[in-house]
Amino acid sequence: MKRLFSGVKPTGDLHLGNYLGAIRQWINLQDDYEPIFCIVDYHSITSQYNPKKLPDFVFKCACNYLAAGLDPEKSLITVQSKIPEHTELTWILNCITPVSWLERVPTFKEKAAKQSGNVNMGLLDYPALMTADIILYKAEAVPVGEDQLPHIELAREIVRKFNGVFGQLFPEPKGIIGKVGRIKGLDGADKMGKSLNNCIFLYETKDQIWTKLSKAVTDPARIRKSDPGDPEVCNIYALHKLLSDTETQYEVANGCRTASIGCVDCKRRLNDSLDSEIAPIREKYLELLTKKEYVGSILSEGSRKAAEIAAGTMDQVRDLIGFSYEFLE
Ligand code: TRP
Repeated sequence: MKRLFSGVKPTGDLHLGNYLGAIRQWINLQDDYEPIFCIVDYHSITSQYNPKKLPDFVFKCACNYLAAGLDPEKSLITVQSKIPEHTELTWILNCITPVSWLERVPTFKEKAAKQSGNVNMGLLDYPALMTADIILYKAEAVPVGEDQLPHIELAREIVRKFNGVFGQLFPEPKGIIGKVGRIKGLDGADKMGKSLNNCIFLYETKDQIWTKLSKAVTDPARIRKSDPGDPEVCNIYALHKLLSDTETQYEVANGCRTASIGCVDCKRRLNDSLDSEIAPIREKYLELLTKKEYVGSILSEGSRKAAEIAAGTMDQVRDLIGFSYEFLE
């Protein structure tokens, strides 16, 4: 079976956009690959963060993923900094990666503009660390959001360079992009995101979600309930397509076009569909939050097993790059 790797930044709580856009696909991929899902704390320190909060974020991140259905029997769930080979391999890749390749990465330019007072080396080097993450396990499949594709492309270039300079060792990784595309927030405009205040968190209750949903933007041309609307321009309908059964989808789309149901009813039905999918995740999440030892043991065990694979790869890398000093013990 091919190995799959993906990284998750521990930035606190997950929202519906993360779930629909990424995690839900990962759950299904677990059967077709040997997956490693890594909580990438070395990546998260490239932007300003609070060291006191980091442990809690890492823990909650693990709880969220387990609650959503990552199965520790099928997947290794790891913490990046527990496996120092990630940074060791990064240094080696740094020495074959031209600075100009890193400078042209779109996410670097965006981040550098956003945090102009903190354009640190780590920010520039972020894609080299990401390459190391993937190839340390010789992973071939990398499920990511579309915004990450330039990083995967760069990883492929770095792999070609390494194999060309030192000898064939690493397979070229491929990105796996979900079919869902970009999940818009409740404002119907921007991508759903924590910082934009337009998201539904996975831990929220049905009532809390209703407070948000009831204010969510629908087809802007539909002002009165008696106006027929266009479901294809309505973000609530876009969410129905991801969460409701086909019968409900048909009923709300038809009801909207003929003005026989209003936006409030349409939203109520979405809230029902949403609740049946995420209520079990919420319950599991709340339960896991109280099981520090259990969650910790999954992360320790996952990291330990991954470290064995990483150590094997690093032995091969050190041999290839000339770090094989037989005169040392
Ligand atoms: N950069 C990714 C993101 O922001 C996270 C990440 C780090 C990653 N290392 C990775 C994703 C390796 C895939 C593979 O989402």
